[in-house]
Amino acid sequence: MKALEGIKILDFTHVQSGPTCTQLLAWLGADVIKVERPGIGDITRGQLVDIPDVDSLYFTMLNSNKRSITLDTKNETGKEILIRLIKSCDVLVENFAPGALDRMGFPWERIQELNPRMIYASVKGFGPGPYEDCKVYENVAQCTGGAASTTGFDDGPPLVTGAQIGDSGTGLHLAFGIVAALFQRVTSGRGQRVQAAMQDGVLNLARVKLRDQQRLAHGPLTEYPVNTDVDETPRAGNASGGGQPGWAVRTKGGGPNDYIYVIIQPPGWAYYMELCGRPELVDDPEWSTPAARLPKLDECFKIIEEWTLTKTKREAMDILNARDIPCGPILSMKEIADEPALRNTGTIVEVDHPTRGKYLTVGMPVKLSDSEAKVQSSPLLGEHTEEILLDVLGLSKKEVNAAWKSGALGEPAAKAID
Ligand code: COA
Repeated sequence: MKALEGIKILDFTHVQSGPTCTQLLAWLGADVIKVERPGIGDITRGQLVDIPDVDSLYFTMLNSNKRSITLDTKNETGKEILIRLIKSCDVLVENFAPGALDRMGFPWERIQELNPRMIYASVKGFGPGPYEDCKVYENVAQCTGGAASTTGFDDGPPLVTGAQIGDSGTGLHLAFGIVAALFQRVTSGRGQRVQAAMQDGVLNLARVKLRDQQRLAHGPLTEYPVNTDVDETPRAGNASGGGQPGWAVRTKGGGPNDYIYVIIQPPGWAYYMELCGRPELVDDPEWSTPAARLPKLDECFKIIEEWTLTKTKREAMDILNARDIPCGPILSMKEIADEPALRNTGTIVEVDHPTRGKYLTVGMPVKLSDSEAKVQSSPLLGEHTEEILLDVLGLSKKEVNAAWKSGALGEPAAKAID
């Protein structure tokens, strides 16, 4: 028995933010029924293609453990099938452009009427306000949510990060909202509207930068290794900007990822200085306290770097960890893909796809002791169309044939069943 077993999700998501959310719900055991446009499907099936005529990794890595039905929801028979799906599912998740589901004829009021227990969950770029009708992709959310203005070096342009905090981050927020709504439904008996805006999701992840914006009213941000005479939270380079100073220092090898991120917690200073051959700085009042080091953090990290340059990042990690010093090597995706510990925990998994063969994906990032997530392949376009119509909706074979003939499921007659 899995955590969400018995829950049926009507998955109208596409691209990344929505699919991340429903993939998490599928790993928790929900039956995720992905509704896709006949002949086209989720646009990512054909984006960033590495093997011709095979679903892209973009799609396969965001849609595992789901079932796919092709349905034209603008076709009259398609609309009737959609109504039956709304009546039989627990949650509808979508991340279309604002108003798309309304234009299809299914605003929230109608969905509630059809199924008062339905939880209707959406990702949009912005919440209500001047930008609510705008289409949004990942980097737009990073820019409008405060991540880009606070990422990069203070003498360079704003930067976006490789972590998909706008898309996958908001998908994660939405999944949390859906699970809470399912829990509330147990006592209320009612569904509800769950909405996650990508700007809000990014801002939630960047909340410490809004903390710093307010701290500026009371003086400079001395923890930032940059020009602190500013009135907006600056870009902090690789500094933590938090209570414990940190920096990415170079290590032996000279490659683009031969770096280790080191943090100077007060108890670690003595050991660092011992390693760096500078024992005189351990008790020197000019260096011995966090307050004394604050104005010269760049010099502190230079001293540490002289030592790290004599070690590989893994050697430095082992040596520092032996004395409980928080640090971490900068790992490339190549290194992460080969990391045995991540394979052992199922965080990196190898999956077999019917047309692609084996590929790697990132498995469930949260481990539940009573609800193990087993990652399965993503569905082919429309792979489960008939199965869903017959088993979930209880349609007869005659009704399924009629649906094919109407064009609601795709090319008419191409697939009529016996
Ligand atoms: N049958 C018939 N029509 C369907 C369908 C189906 N099964 N599935 C989708 N469609 C239609 C929609 O109804 C919509 O039609 P409309 O414009 O006539 O209303 C159309 O397909 C495409 O939807 P849209 O969402 O506008 O796609 P897009 O490619 O133009 O925009 C985004 C993509 C991501 C920019 C946009 O969906 C968006 O802003 N989403 C919200 C924010 C978000 O999640 N962004 C991150 C994505 S990772």
